[in-house]
Amino acid sequence: MFAIPSLSGDKPEQYAQLISQARALVTGEHDRIANAANLSALIYHALPDLNWAGFYFYDGRELVVGPFQGLPACVRIGLNRGVCGAAARTRQTQRVEDVEAFPDHIACDAASRSELVVPLVRGDTLIGVLDLDSPRPARFDADDQAGIEAIARVYLESLS
Ligand code: SME
Repeated sequence: MFAIPSLSGDKPEQYAQLISQARALVTGEHDRIANAANLSALIYHALPDLNWAGFYFYDGRELVVGPFQGLPACVRIGLNRGVCGAAARTRQTQRVEDVEAFPDHIACDAASRSELVVPLVRGDTLIGVLDLDSPRPARFDADDQAGIEAIARVYLESLS
């Protein structure tokens, strides 16, 4: 049985704990769906104030929704659309304090107010994005960005 760990200490310490939980979850497993599913569940249940956490995979043309926790989401997102598309297109993390002020934000869940999207790039290849949404404006700070980028690296390393 898996218990979601309660995180302690300041934010960087909490992320250090979450990152080791993420590593433990994917150790010995290379399946991209299985690891995306378990990491989505870990993130969603361990971090406060999230209404969506999950993966979109790049199919060579657009982003297609993968394993996630939260309400049902848009299935396909072009790279020219939304926060996820911007992360995939630029290959840069997008940290959006107010999604309503982001041009072309795609409201899958009307409750979302802020968003953090980390691109998943392996070598030169775009794999997809890891997307977190919050109902709280400016939910994500630089510590969250560094922590979720580290979890994205754990995911990418698990694939090889
Ligand atoms: N808000 C995202 C779409 C995906 S959902 O949040 C799950 C965007 O603008 O790309």
